[in-house]
Amino acid sequence: MTEQIRFVLLGLGNIGRNLLDILVHRQKQIEADYGLSFVLVGAVDSSGAAVSQEGLDMARVRDLKLGREGVADYPGMGRRGMVALEVLESVRADVLVGASPTNLRSGEPGLSAVRFALNAGMDVVMADKGPLVLAYQELMALAKQQQVEIRFSGTVAGGLPTVNLGVRDLAGSGILRVEGIFNGTTNYILTRMEQEQISYEEALAGAQKAGIAEADPTLDVDGWDAANKLVIIANSALKRPTKLSDLTVEGIRNITLEDLQQARREGKVIKPLAMAVLQDGDYQLSVKPVALDARHPLAMTNKWDMGVVYYSDYMGVISAIIEEKGPVPTSAAVLRDMINIYSN
Ligand SMILES: NC(=O)c1ccc[n+]([C@@H]2O[C@H](COP(=O)([O-])OP(=O)(O)OC[C@H]3O[C@@H](n4cnc5c(N)ncnc54)[C@H](OP(=O)(O)O)[C@@H]3O)[C@@H](O)[C@H]2O)c1
Repeated sequence: MTEQIRFVLLGLGNIGRNLLDILVHRQKQIEADYGLSFVLVGAVDSSGAAVSQEGLDMARVRDLKLGREGVADYPGMGRRGMVALEVLESVRADVLVGASPTNLRSGEPGLSAVRFALNAGMDVVMADKGPLVLAYQELMALAKQQQVEIRFSGTVAGGLPTVNLGVRDLAGSGILRVEGIFNGTTNYILTRMEQEQISYEEALAGAQKAGIAEADPTLDVDGWDAANKLVIIANSALKRPTKLSDLTVEGIRNITLEDLQQARREGKVIKPLAMAVLQDGDYQLSVKPVALDARHPLAMTNKWDMGVVYYSDYMGVISAIIEEKGPVPTSAAVLRDMINIYSN
């Protein structure tokens, strides 16, 4: 028998729109494989919302967004100016999917929506890092109290199962060290500098042209995006209550072609690493460019790759690498979380 899972989707950009596209293509197979049918009962963007307890047409919402329209234009069920909290109040849903912009000052609009959903007894799946970076401990405690689930496997390096490896697959073992390339843009820049012998400025311009770096690349190149992801890994996999201010953060702006060439002569490759190292009972957390031995799994990553290595006491060393050229793997990670909650 198929179980219907009703969801509200907050954010219909790259991640939300591609999630709908995957569901349109995969829904029948998901029903066959897991006995689950996902029904979109509310969708929210900056124009407003569309709501229907019977379910919105996911292909239609996707196509509205592809046509650069607002979801408030959804025929008959669009509501201009309706915000996420009003949507959550007006429909019955099992799960909130948070895919609005990461806001590291207030966490909004995601944080209020997540709090509301948890208090209402809904599960939550997030691609948005903001609420987790700002309020991880509070949200987990609330989820536990409400006996609901929060999943966020797409927040740290998109489709790469960084969170799942650390939280689920190393259960029972101690984590001694984590090394990760969690930011695709900085790995793209350093890899192209290294492999094509071009300057930082040329590689950055290439990343901007490829659409993976913002016009203002500060969050990426100064290390803050990777730092946010390390905060999530520290809180979840390492079980260490952690805030951004616990980390030392250094970006890649000062790495020159000469630095990369010198490292290469020494059999090393400079990579933008996020690291957690267990020392005297606590983790030292940092983001910085590090010269790795050329045979290190992360040294071998290419320009579209991200990766993680977990060093554990009883389970040895586990590495995973993903080639991720766009936002779709993150959308697929959101779907993975939705399935993992309800297929158990
Ligand atoms: N892109 C990636 O590869 C990636 C990877 C991992 C995690 N993430 C995270 O996933 C989230 C979504 O990323 P994205 O690339 O899809 O972003 P995006 O393309 O900028 O889309 C953001 C969506 O949120 C909507 N929105 C903005 N402000 C809103 C508000 N106040 N209320 C309701 N909706 C609002 C936007 O509405 P409009 O459509 O009307 O503008 C848009 O639909 C972010 O938190 C990001 O950090 C992204």
